[in-house]
Amino acid sequence: MENSVRLDLDIKSFKYPDNTVALSDIQISMKSGEFTGLLGSNGSGKTTLLKVMDGLLKDFDGSVLLDGTEIRRLSPKEIYRKIGLIFQNPDEQLFAPTVFEDVAFGPLNMGFSEAETSERVLGALRDVDMEHYAQKSIHNLSFGQKKRICIAGLLAMGHEILLMDEPTAGLDPMGEYRMMRLLTELNRKKGVTIVMATHSVDLVPVFLDNLYILSRGKIVRGGSPEEVFTAPKDMEEVKLRLPHIAEMIYKLKHEDKIGFGKIPLTVGEARREILKIMEDVKED
Ligand SMILES: Nc1ncnc2c1ncn2[C@@H]1O[C@H](COP(=O)(O)OP(=O)(O)OP(=O)(O)O)[C@@H](O)[C@H]1O
Ligand SMILES: [Mg+2]
Repeated sequence: MENSVRLDLDIKSFKYPDNTVALSDIQISMKSGEFTGLLGSNGSGKTTLLKVMDGLLKDFDGSVLLDGTEIRRLSPKEIYRKIGLIFQNPDEQLFAPTVFEDVAFGPLNMGFSEAETSERVLGALRDVDMEHYAQKSIHNLSFGQKKRICIAGLLAMGHEILLMDEPTAGLDPMGEYRMMRLLTELNRKKGVTIVMATHSVDLVPVFLDNLYILSRGKIVRGGSPEEVFTAPKDMEEVKLRLPHIAEMIYKLKHEDKIGFGKIPLTVGEARREILKIMEDVKED
């Protein structure tokens, strides 16, 4: 299915029952193997959009195609065989008494044997650094630990498409980095198609190829991180900011007139640009 469109959205509008228009004029598509980010401030519509993409919210004008079929014509089972959604709030997702039982629920339901399920559960718990918590009560976990268990629950099922609502929110810095590395690995090595909603502007340029900015339920910009992260003023308009490193270099370039070419978005790129400028100064 390389390069084929897996999710194709053309949403004219979506309203909640209280008449809040949460989405309008959204035309985006996700190809097989792509890692897409949805970036937007609080209330911009990220969670709503992911729920529409997972077939949970159906009352929209327009169409959402999963592998070419209108998602509202598919049964929940047909959708969940392909797509897994991580909820923003882990308490909405977790329900079994213990960690092991919760993570095992999906694979058992998909018909895997007890032995295969057990292997999948332990592998997924290892992936999220929670292998020592298998017998722990869900109730007693910290927020970040619950988040990891939700992700393990999906990893154990091995979906082709993962929709992640703020997967790194509440994780400590190392957990955040490891989570992004794990998702990147799933994407690059196993070809899992990933859509991730976030407002972590410092994180996304390091990992994502493709990014959309949502503002008041509309996509206001899309492209590579370089295309999307432009000037600080544009970001302020959508209640976001540039990554810290980009903001600093932007100021050095425009206020202190230091000769940067493009604005780097990551620490690694910034370091290279700064070393280049230092070399040029030495040669003068
Ligand atoms: N069940 C609901 N009923 C009515 N309005 C809702 C409901 N859920 C969300 N909304 C509204 O829809 C809009 C989009 O909300 P959504 O949760 O999709 O935003 P978000 O981008 O995920 O925000 P956050 O970053 O805070 O998670 C908001 O204005 C919100 O108030
Ligand atoms: Mg949300």
